Amino acid sequence: MSQQFQHDVLVIGSGAAGLSLALNLPSHLRIAVLSKGDLANGSTFWAQGGVAAVLDDTDTVQSHVEDTLNAGGGLCHEDAVRFTVEHSREAIEWLIEQGVPFTRDEHHGVDDGGFEFHLTREGGHSHRRIIHAADATGAAIFTTLLAQARQRPNIELLEQRVAVDLITERRLGLPGERCLGAYVLNRNSGEVDTFGARFTVLATGGAAKVYLYTSNPDGACGDGIAMAWRAGCRVANLEFNQFHPTCLYHPQAKSFLITEALRGEGALLRLPNGERFMPRFDPREELAPRDIVARAIDHEMKRLGVDCVYLDITHKPADFIKSHFPTVYERCLTFGIDITRQPIPVVPAAHYTCGGVVVDDRGHTDVPGLYAIGETSFTGLHGANRMASNSLLECFVYGRAAAADIRAHLEQINMPSALPCWDASQVTDSDEDVIIAHNWDELRRFMWDYVGIVRTSKRLQRAEHRVRLLLDEIDEFYSNYKVSRDLIELRNLAQVAELMIRSAMQRKESRGLHYTLDYPGMLPEAKDTILSPV
Ligand code: FAD
Ligand code: SIN
Repeated sequence: MSQQFQHDVLVIGSGAAGLSLALNLPSHLRIAVLSKGDLANGSTFWAQGGVAAVLDDTDTVQSHVEDTLNAGGGLCHEDAVRFTVEHSREAIEWLIEQGVPFTRDEHHGVDDGGFEFHLTREGGHSHRRIIHAADATGAAIFTTLLAQARQRPNIELLEQRVAVDLITERRLGLPGERCLGAYVLNRNSGEVDTFGARFTVLATGGAAKVYLYTSNPDGACGDGIAMAWRAGCRVANLEFNQFHPTCLYHPQAKSFLITEALRGEGALLRLPNGERFMPRFDPREELAPRDIVARAIDHEMKRLGVDCVYLDITHKPADFIKSHFPTVYERCLTFGIDITRQPIPVVPAAHYTCGGVVVDDRGHTDVPGLYAIGETSFTGLHGANRMASNSLLECFVYGRAAAADIRAHLEQINMPSALPCWDASQVTDSDEDVIIAHNWDELRRFMWDYVGIVRTSKRLQRAEHRVRLLLDEIDEFYSNYKVSRDLIELRNLAQVAELMIRSAMQRKESRGLHYTLDYPGMLPEAKDTILSPV
């Protein structure tokens, strides 16, 4: 039997964004935090490099702002960048208060005026400003925030709950536009439950799983972007898919990232013959922004017809490598690669969704009562290319800002009255799940081939044609069969892919992460690609 629940705040997503929002709400509120797998299944747990923030006395807000604007290819919203960077220190202080065990600076003395935690460097940053917990920063942050959430009796942490769609007044045929909650598949019971809420928050992460090769965990399917779009929200800049330059190239190493902090600490990119190539592409060499490094690797791999390039940190002392990068060291060793002695085979892979659901500086979407925070949202911070380690920062700054906004509006919003249950009367059990598996594979493959690091108008047209066919087939399947996690994700992935392709086709220039052979130059005016549902 399906069930009905009521919460003050429904948070869909248990990553950095969702947990920081929940922990910044008052303890008298009833809060549900949903995860579609186990609670750790988002990208947050896997984050390696760290969080960018202005922490050292020699660094400035202006410098972090300028670096972000430069990396963003002229498309960042300066007000969003400034807002984020100005709140960076307090976000980190809050994380330290929660107990996150950031790596300390072993050279810090009591009177030296510096910062007591170690700061590393990544591409695009002109200062050391990345606070981290060795090379497993996401795990340290997630574990700490989860432990805090578990101590709050008002926060229910619900695993294996897949939000299917948002419930809005419009969807129910009621006057008004407000979001009233969500329909959620309980994977344990197989039923779709109804969650009513005064405030609903999308903290569902990105959509990099739309590509065949990605650094992201399996759940990164753009569910929040697709749900928000169907509920009537605008989405923006979905053509800007960030490819991380260095993922481990090994047949058994699914999705393993080699953190950019290795390059920050001196690792060099080399061709199979040992030659360095980044100096030919950018004066910042290995520490150029990610779009430039990923494109350079793609270019060299295609030029030479090789399967990978190499990241070499063997010139650093073995103790340094093992203490700064224990996760990368151990993981590579399981594949027989000793990174203290051998260069690491690497390739670019889809990593981050720079576009998303359009929000303001408090996380408001276009639908009243619905917030979007973290990778799912589009705040204007990242422009045409996100600078390294600005993503987690955005999760904390906007998670906290959205929580403050909810706190400020509590008195004005009542609990929605009883909502209609999910109607499963017209659907049966699927007897053809092979279609889901096939479509899933086809979608991710043509997105990789046609909407990848280098694009052309013809490839985008091909992708558009194929995604339309898939959407029709998936719609028919969705109308006739009971929902499952795979079907929900495929439906959302295909929807987001269609929005990405449409956005890419609208951009008649090359800028940041969107590079097309048909329009190799950059237009004088930088404009967002904003799509509105009719
Ligand atoms: P996530 O952490 O991805 O969490 C999404 C949550 O939403 C999950 O709980 C998931 O179960 C839930 N969810 C999704 N759909 C549904 C649904 N339909 N129903 C219910 N629940 C749902 N950024 C940095 O700034 N620094 C780094 O060092 C860094 N390293 C990275 C390394 C890797 C390998 C990866 C993949 C990313 C890295 N990033 C890094 C990016 C950063 O980790 C992510 O952008 C960030 O963690 C996203 O957090 P989030 O809270 O928005 O979403
Ligand atoms: C990394 O550690 O290289 C990832 C950092 C990021 O995605 O910001």
